[in-house]
Amino acid sequence: MTHELAAYGGTKVREWPLDTREYSQARFGEEEKQAVMDVLDSGHLCRVFGKRTTEFEHQVAEYFGVAAAAAVSSGTAAIHCALAALEVGPGDEVITSPITDMGSVIPIIARNAVPIFADVDTNTFNITADSIERVLTAHTKAVIVVHLAGQCCVMQPIIDLARERSIHVIEDCAQSYLSTCDGRTAGTIGDVGCFSLNDFKHITCGDGGFLISDDRDLIRRAALFADKGYPRSGPVRNSLVLGMNYRMTELQAAVAGVQLKKLASIIERRRTLGRTLNRLLSQIGGIIPPAVAKGIEHSYWFYPIIVDSQLVGLDASTFARDVTAEGIPVAFPYLGSPVYLFDSVRRLRICDSEIVYKQGLCPNAEESLRSMMVLPCNEFMTEDDVRDITAALVKVVNYHVEKKQRNP
Ligand SMILES: Cc1ncc(COP(=O)(O)O)c(C=O)c1O
Repeated sequence: MTHELAAYGGTKVREWPLDTREYSQARFGEEEKQAVMDVLDSGHLCRVFGKRTTEFEHQVAEYFGVAAAAAVSSGTAAIHCALAALEVGPGDEVITSPITDMGSVIPIIARNAVPIFADVDTNTFNITADSIERVLTAHTKAVIVVHLAGQCCVMQPIIDLARERSIHVIEDCAQSYLSTCDGRTAGTIGDVGCFSLNDFKHITCGDGGFLISDDRDLIRRAALFADKGYPRSGPVRNSLVLGMNYRMTELQAAVAGVQLKKLASIIERRRTLGRTLNRLLSQIGGIIPPAVAKGIEHSYWFYPIIVDSQLVGLDASTFARDVTAEGIPVAFPYLGSPVYLFDSVRRLRICDSEIVYKQGLCPNAEESLRSMMVLPCNEFMTEDDVRDITAALVKVVNYHVEKKQRNP
């Protein structure tokens, strides 16, 4: 027996909102407040005069077990600094993913380099060694792998390819804190790992970011780029490289340092919820939970699902609308298009050449974005929330499947 959908006047599966506001408030506690007050009391909000940001960098390096870390003002800044430190420059090609945030792409363009898009695997939505190899040229200087949604790319074949072709590997870990590939943590596998601390991420200080690497000199160069080229040592001011002001403030570092201590427990909770959702949703015909590639541990930054529109008999947008009407907010589409079709990217002028990206460039990415929708998943969700999400999906699927059977 099917129940009338809320979208058509039926009773909602869930009457009260799946929290977002309480979620934001619960992210910060007494420890963050105290850390901010300590910085204010110190009288120094800028890292040049204070010590909190430097302490955060040591904390990050120790946490990830790497030689060094540099704190910066955003994830976008982290990638820009990484490209600068690797001397990616005018006319170089940098391969990245078409399903990502602009923060992975803007830095490439800002270096006057050419973004080249490798297609994604339709199961994981990540780029692969094969898809990277297909777009490699003699001009390729680096690849920015984007670990999407909490899932690390399958890294060893990518590293092997990069070593063979002498290209650098930058890991964009903004969405995938503590995801692992063959036991290695995202960000510690390529030449440099870049992280975002913006408000949407596993941990946050409002806005912020950092880079990690085992190459101390790379981190030194990145830090110089983040501070207008100033080494901040020696009696005479000199700028060693042309850089930006991407400094993290002492206030950001104070909050980020406390948040980092919470990271492991946040990921543990998200993994528990993610695995429960995987188990429950895989029992619903027509819903495809996120596929986790062999050797990968997911960290569930968001929870993408695909709806089999043939089986359910309706398009992804209507499906998302119907589930949302049941009281479970479903985001669709995740992106309106692959990033290469965004207005700011589709036609670029780089080093006197015009670069035009067209529909059809990455068919897997385009197809994935037509059917991928995003379910809520955060560490504050309860087992009841997971039960309601599942119930809403079951209700909507059953309703449409039965309707389809009645009117084939
Ligand atoms: C995959 C990815 N890369 C880079 C960024 C950029 O991070 P930020 O917003 O801190 O500049 C984001 C942020 O949304 C992201 O999701």
